[in-house]
Amino acid sequence: MDRLQMALEKARAKREQAGAPGPETRPFGDGSKPSAVEPAKPEPPREKQATPVEMPEVWKVLAPLHINEKEMIQNRLVSLQGGPEAAPYDMLRTKIAQQARVRGWRRIALVSPHSACGKSTTAANLGFSFGRQEDKRTMVLDFDLRRMGLARILAQRCQNSMGDVLTRRVSFQAHALRHGHNVIFGLNCSEVSNPSEILQSRQADEVLSEIEDTYEPDFVFFDTPPLMASDDSHGFLKNVDCALLIAAAEQTTMDEIDVAERQLAELTNVMGIVLNKCRYTSGAHGYEYGYY
Ligand SMILES: Nc1ncnc2c1ncn2[C@@H]1O[C@H](COP(=O)(O)OP(=O)(O)O)[C@@H](O)[C@H]1O
Ligand SMILES: [Mg+2]
Repeated sequence: MDRLQMALEKARAKREQAGAPGPETRPFGDGSKPSAVEPAKPEPPREKQATPVEMPEVWKVLAPLHINEKEMIQNRLVSLQGGPEAAPYDMLRTKIAQQARVRGWRRIALVSPHSACGKSTTAANLGFSFGRQEDKRTMVLDFDLRRMGLARILAQRCQNSMGDVLTRRVSFQAHALRHGHNVIFGLNCSEVSNPSEILQSRQADEVLSEIEDTYEPDFVFFDTPPLMASDDSHGFLKNVDCALLIAAAEQTTMDEIDVAERQLAELTNVMGIVLNKCRYTSGAHGYEYGYY
């Protein structure tokens, strides 16, 4: 952990020395599941008695997400219910919400250098974690159009994909799934042939703005394709407010993190780096909730 942080700082210092544009990074978050490169500050007291948002008609008509608890547990969706298991994601949620509030950010892309870093798992868990924040509306949209990652992890069946929505072949209302009164998932249950062109199109941005105007989310999370695998998300990332870089412990190399961070910084604001899949943590970063 410390070595990773030191190495990152060294890489940034080297870039700055070389006169390269340094990314404005604010690494955060940490713990045994998703973990991060900087020690977390103590979590501020949660807002008590947050008034639940009312569910507008446009939300009510959406089909519900079907919860199969066994599959959810198998797929590491630990934040569905809250409690100690959900603590790492709740910590991440709080940090994201704090930064988003301060900076006025709403569209947050979850990005990784390569596949299997845990973007889709994190996206789904953040959806459930933010869902327990009763006074906020959250959307989680799968923009990794070559995969059905989020639908598979959530064990959902649907007909179409977000690619069909972004090209106006299918309405978002007919496609989206609602969880509770304040979370919407937009999944991929089919593949599209030209994801890169779809994601970079002006139409995609227009459709997204219409969706936001209609459903008025406080946060929109985008599950995105791996940066190294294709140029799918490169064009789209200019449309988000910030990106959270997710790396996998013992899998993602320092070079990959450094290159990904640099690429991201040219496209959007880098909100932070999450080191996921940590097997060993000291517990020094506030995740030992159960022992309070
Ligand atoms: N915090 C974690 N700890 C252990 N395994 C994880 C964690 N997050 C994700 N995984 C596993 O890693 C694999 C890839 O996760 P996934 O979310 O599909 O990655 P991505 O969307 O980045 O390709 C899955 O088998 C998932 O269960
Ligand atoms: Mg995925």
